[in-house]
Amino acid sequence: MTEYLSYTFDDSEEFINTFDELPLWSASFGLLLLKHLELQPNLTVIDIGSGAGFPLTELAGRLGNSCKLYGLDPWVNANKRAKQKIKNYNLSNVEIIECSAEAIPFPKNSIDLIVSNLGINNFDNPQAVFSECNRVLKPNGRLVLTSNLNGHWKEFYSIFYTTLKQLGKESLIPALKQDEEHRGTVESISKLFIEHGFIISRHFEEYFEMKFLDGSAFLHHNFVKLGWLTSWLKLFPKNELEEIFTSLEHNLNEHSARNNGLILSVPMAYIEGEKIKRKETTFSNTIKKINGTEHRTKI
Ligand SMILES: C[S@@+](CC[C@H](N)C(=O)[O-])C[C@H]1O[C@@H](n2cnc3c(N)ncnc32)[C@H](O)[C@@H]1O
Repeated sequence: MTEYLSYTFDDSEEFINTFDELPLWSASFGLLLLKHLELQPNLTVIDIGSGAGFPLTELAGRLGNSCKLYGLDPWVNANKRAKQKIKNYNLSNVEIIECSAEAIPFPKNSIDLIVSNLGINNFDNPQAVFSECNRVLKPNGRLVLTSNLNGHWKEFYSIFYTTLKQLGKESLIPALKQDEEHRGTVESISKLFIEHGFIISRHFEEYFEMKFLDGSAFLHHNFVKLGWLTSWLKLFPKNELEEIFTSLEHNLNEHSARNNGLILSVPMAYIEGEKIKRKETTFSNTIKKINGTEHRTKI
């Protein structure tokens, strides 16, 4: 009998634990990826930085059982969650491999497609990841990245620079600038593709806005704290944080009152490269120790 005809909905605690599938933040980029990605049968696919299982499990469902997918991530707790989803969704075509993409545990020329949703801003060594992608992809294999770009929340950064100037703390501006600009541009990301033996075969840019009532709501928002505040706090001397953030919150609130809320731009891109040649690199010396490494988010 066709397997799906025997499906029954099991409203168990285990089911509901993974029903709320992913952060809203990840969804915008995942939708861009799912919109443009060309689906083909019989693919071997890697999702780099698969985190808690997105877009890995969704792609597994959309590609079906002729394809085999692997999620690569060093984040131990996220991998546990991803495995629980794979079990709950009864997916037989996906596996999680706990590792860094700086050393992908596959032979050369063995993979058809590599995707990474919001991965690139998080890699400590993007050069090593690109080299590895080139090594494991088959000739003409595809590498697809979706990411937020430089320009991310430019309204917020502009108010932050003004605040530092008002406080006479111009010397702290370069650190903030570096934080803002760690996100690539389409040009800088494309350069990485080209330097590692790819041609850019397709590229799409989109833009969305995030709206908050004011700066106080923004700075207290759970996901803002997790994804961004933690890295801002590391940019400045501890004993100056109270002064800086009190002024910043005040300025953000004034801006919000004048502008009907705090509206922040998010430019994003889908960039697809095709492997044209083998990039000669060694990868054995890039293996990262997984146990004991700190998990960092920087998005
Ligand atoms: C912003 S999260 C995105 C997670 C998921 N793809 C999503 O869309 O929700 C970035 C992920 O990249 C992972 N990551 C960071 N460095 C990595 C590396 N060298 N190799 C593989 N994954 C890495 C992090 O552990 C994290 O899960």
